[in-house]
Amino acid sequence: MLVDIVVILSAICYQLSFSNIFMQNNNLMEKITSLAKRRGFLFQSSEIYGGISACYDYGPLGVELRNNVKEAWWDQMVRDRSDIEGIDTSILMHSKVWEASGHLQHFTDPLVDCKKCKKRFKEEDILESAKKKVVKGKLQCPECGGELTKARQFNLMFKTHMGPVESKSNEIYLRPETAQGIYVNFRNVLDSTGQRIPFGIAQIGKAFRNEITPGNLTFRLREFEQMEMQYFIKPKEATKWFDYWLKERKNWYLEYGLTRGKLQTREHKGGELAHYAKKAVDIQYKFPFGFAELEGIHNRTDYDLVEHEKASGKDLNYIDPVTNEKFIPWIVETSGGIDRATLAFLINAYTEVEGGRSEKKQTVHEKEVVLKLDKRLAPIKVAVLPLSRKKELTSEAIKIFDLVKKDFKSQYDETGSIGKRYRRQDEIGTPYCVTIDFETLEDKAVTVRDRDTMEQERMRVAKLKEYLENKLTK
Ligand code: GAP
Repeated sequence: MLVDIVVILSAICYQLSFSNIFMQNNNLMEKITSLAKRRGFLFQSSEIYGGISACYDYGPLGVELRNNVKEAWWDQMVRDRSDIEGIDTSILMHSKVWEASGHLQHFTDPLVDCKKCKKRFKEEDILESAKKKVVKGKLQCPECGGELTKARQFNLMFKTHMGPVESKSNEIYLRPETAQGIYVNFRNVLDSTGQRIPFGIAQIGKAFRNEITPGNLTFRLREFEQMEMQYFIKPKEATKWFDYWLKERKNWYLEYGLTRGKLQTREHKGGELAHYAKKAVDIQYKFPFGFAELEGIHNRTDYDLVEHEKASGKDLNYIDPVTNEKFIPWIVETSGGIDRATLAFLINAYTEVEGGRSEKKQTVHEKEVVLKLDKRLAPIKVAVLPLSRKKELTSEAIKIFDLVKKDFKSQYDETGSIGKRYRRQDEIGTPYCVTIDFETLEDKAVTVRDRDTMEQERMRVAKLKEYLENKLTK
């Protein structure tokens, strides 16, 4: 009896703590969504018409943050290396590309329709929930209990037509991955740069997928951006380069601030592998809704180049200049999403300080939000704040704003109390606030406050740019 009570009580406690964690996590997603809208990081696309599902617009702060994420990736993958070339290829490509790559045939999800309410579901979601609920007999619609159709394959690519006539012969697709633009340019880049294997080609660009179950803000979108790099190698070196790129890419997320304990890797099992992959490992981040993929590292073998060679009739072999060996290179791909990375950096940076951070503790219960973004990713680097709105101070402050804004994305703010203005900047992750007071008029010095340490340093205006330069570029 006593044992039963203990078991029941611990089950209740488990349920409560689970639902508590669930609520906290859901809450965090809600807080991020609200902050993103309120401060201009993200807006629902076409919001004034009620929005369009799984498409988002980046607002004034969001575009800065996302551009900084792209820049961080481009710097590490292209500018800082001599073995990787960057390119930027068209979204629209010859439809034969998708035939050759296997996307027309394999880039599909099995879907079932409800015969009664006409709603459409991924078959795997229905099977998964049936497994959890131990459903016996025929599967039913999770919404209305209606009968479901047999599964049919649904291609995730968006289709359109090139030119004014809509016919089968001019069907064209919005690319579902940027990688194919790289493969079809393999020969061009090789010939125009003189690169030797191993070398890579990288690009950042939009991709489109008609996702069935989009959601979680910008985690799964229908229009999104990828950062992909294809590394061309000798087949026997595949394992070495796979391991190398997995480590490099994981380190990149750590370097830009993701918490080590919130990153993990997960290898795809046989049945999960994409049609082009021999091996795939996901780098996952612990989002509030659970661990989920940020980026995939794939061994694509010579699959894509072989298929394009067959379909185009063009020679895509590589000839080793030393050994004269002729072969189709293998490819290790690093494939990440800009939107997912940006979302992860935003979530990871979100910090709440109970009771506020100022020495004067708040009398009313208050939480201060600090976005502890890596300084290089922060959308606004410097806020210039005159202590009062008196003309002599504001005109001096505007001069300082003009001085710093050329080199660092800056904001000028003279509205509200200085405490409120600091908090506004903390909430959007601005690393440095520069205050101008009446002494500035005498000593030509300003106070610089650090977002994370809250330390304040007095320095001469003449030294300000050099100071910020040192602090903002690691
Ligand atoms: N070229 C290989 C490829 O596209 P993937 O695993 O399908 O591989 C790579 O996608 C990355 O692109 C994912 O890790 C994710 O970051 C991003 N991504 C994929 N689908 C996405 C979607 N619907 N919304 C946002 N990002 C997506």
